[in-house]
Amino acid sequence: MLGIETSCDETGIAVYDSRDGLLGQALHSQIALHRDYGGVVPELASRDHIARVLPLVDEVLEQARLDLRDLDAIAYTRGPGLAGALLVGAGVAAALAMAADLPLLGVHHLEGHLLSPLLAQPELGFPFVALLVSGGHTMLLRASELGRYELMGETVDDAAGEAFDKSAKLLGLGYPGGPELARLAARGRAGAFELPRPKLHSEDLDFSFAGLKTAVLTRVRQLGGADGAPPPEQQRADLAAATQEAITDVLAAKAAAALRRSGLRTLVVAGGVGANLRLREKLDAACATLGARVHYPPLQWCTDNGPMIAYAACRRLQAGLARARHDYAFDIQPRWDLSELGVDAAPGGRASEA
Ligand code: KG4
Ligand code: ZN
Repeated sequence: MLGIETSCDETGIAVYDSRDGLLGQALHSQIALHRDYGGVVPELASRDHIARVLPLVDEVLEQARLDLRDLDAIAYTRGPGLAGALLVGAGVAAALAMAADLPLLGVHHLEGHLLSPLLAQPELGFPFVALLVSGGHTMLLRASELGRYELMGETVDDAAGEAFDKSAKLLGLGYPGGPELARLAARGRAGAFELPRPKLHSEDLDFSFAGLKTAVLTRVRQLGGADGAPPPEQQRADLAAATQEAITDVLAAKAAAALRRSGLRTLVVAGGVGANLRLREKLDAACATLGARVHYPPLQWCTDNGPMIAYAACRRLQAGLARARHDYAFDIQPRWDLSELGVDAAPGGRASEA
């Protein structure tokens, strides 16, 4: 299975074999391209995907020592994501599939993230609770079986990754802010500042992170003095640490609550924020208290990547949950709710929003 991921700012390509595992993978990150703008510029993202996809496919096939015609199927990220960026992956996937007379299937990006821990640990089985924490999503899901994911809670405003990114920007850090903020936080003093932990004690399993950036902004202004100068280095680090503490406290507490509520004893963490080491420490501790096990994808598969798309496509196809298409009428779905991903939700089953 060739997997093509182009939903946002990473071009990820991989070949996965259901018997032999991962045969090749390559990734191009557009971080440098978007850095000057402080965030992803959709049009630039699309154009860069166009330039990268085919050379990366060649590179991965070479790694796998395969020709295009040796493949059994081609998968692409159908959504959710940036429409233009998705169209590049879908278009190239359809063209390659048509040229090599291969079946084509579209994959839900979040299901890719959700299954990525299983890629490294195939023995990991359903059911489990999943904490999905990326730049665009913050969700707790009960994954009962492949393709059946019930939403237990989600953010009512900003995603956890967004909270990291926006706070980082206020602290004068570059893009993407999450990893940079985590680096700065490592030099911060614990407890120097207290920031709010919205919804920490709420009954539900929802999150709210929008207020945090306002709290960070207020602190930055207080510390910067009247002339709006950035706070001194140590105080910036202290504030970064406080931000990281606030976000990870809430994520870990709600994940533990979801485990308790579901009665399940396995937690799977996925998405870019899952790379955060402080979050991992807290989840490890919370799960140890509950007698639960927690699984993370390897760091390289936390953020967007090709292997998770090839793997998810393989699993769906094997389980009879997806129909591979031969008509090459590829489509995309920039907005796509994970709960819509039923057994019948074969690729092409719904109209594209693009
Ligand atoms: O899953 P992902 O690669 O892309 C989306 O589908 O959104 O997640 C990207 C997000 C960004 O917000 C980034 O700042 C955050 O994950 N992130 C981190 C870390 N690494 C990536 N946040 C906190 N700590 C990290 N180490
Ligand atoms: Zn993602």
